[in-house]
Amino acid sequence: MLKANIAVLVSGGGTNLQALIDAEKSGIIKSGKINLVISNKADAYALERAKNAGISTKTVLKSELGSQEAFENELISALDEAKTDIIVLAGFMSILSANFTNHFKDRIINVHPTLIPSFCGKGFYGLKVHEAALAYGVKVSGATVHFVNEIPDGGKIIMQKAVEILEGDTPEVLQKRIMEEAEWKILPLSCEKVCSQIIKERS
Ligand code: GAR
Repeated sequence: MLKANIAVLVSGGGTNLQALIDAEKSGIIKSGKINLVISNKADAYALERAKNAGISTKTVLKSELGSQEAFENELISALDEAKTDIIVLAGFMSILSANFTNHFKDRIINVHPTLIPSFCGKGFYGLKVHEAALAYGVKVSGATVHFVNEIPDGGKIIMQKAVEILEGDTPEVLQKRIMEEAEWKILPLSCEKVCSQIIKERS
């Protein structure tokens, strides 16, 4: 069966990457195949997860390339070389410019650990979003998977899942609950949805 080539961009621990790898193994992702993982951090544990799963990896460092443009051009050439059909940002902590997002229009998805449009945009990433949600006192948070355009966290929403905030939650406890109950579920489901759409458009 024809499958879409999936590239996953990471920066850290890679638990969302792991959820994608597991979903491909279990058949939840059946219309795509992860054939490349790119990190913008040399020491990201996500790279180990990719290697353990036999997936090609590449590290692209902005500090070595000197500019955002050179960094994005390096990403684009690696993705084009891998014949990437869909890019999944899974804990990728770098904002991409219109130069990049236009090159892969409607082909980039991102997981964000809140219910967009709350606690999102520039500066809202990782634990910071959960600190902000708890400081605000919201009683429900969750995760969102959306298409990526030039506006940070501004593209069309694909899936969302709400998660309850409990008395005594710390940012770390909330982060873990949102990952387990929402991110690791809706990211693979959204990835399959977009991959199957790509395959359908081709046939
Ligand atoms: C995840 O919670 C992801 O949603 C978040 O960073 C974490 C990465 O964890 N992403 C953002 O905040 C992007 N704005 P992981 O490396 O274990 O998947």
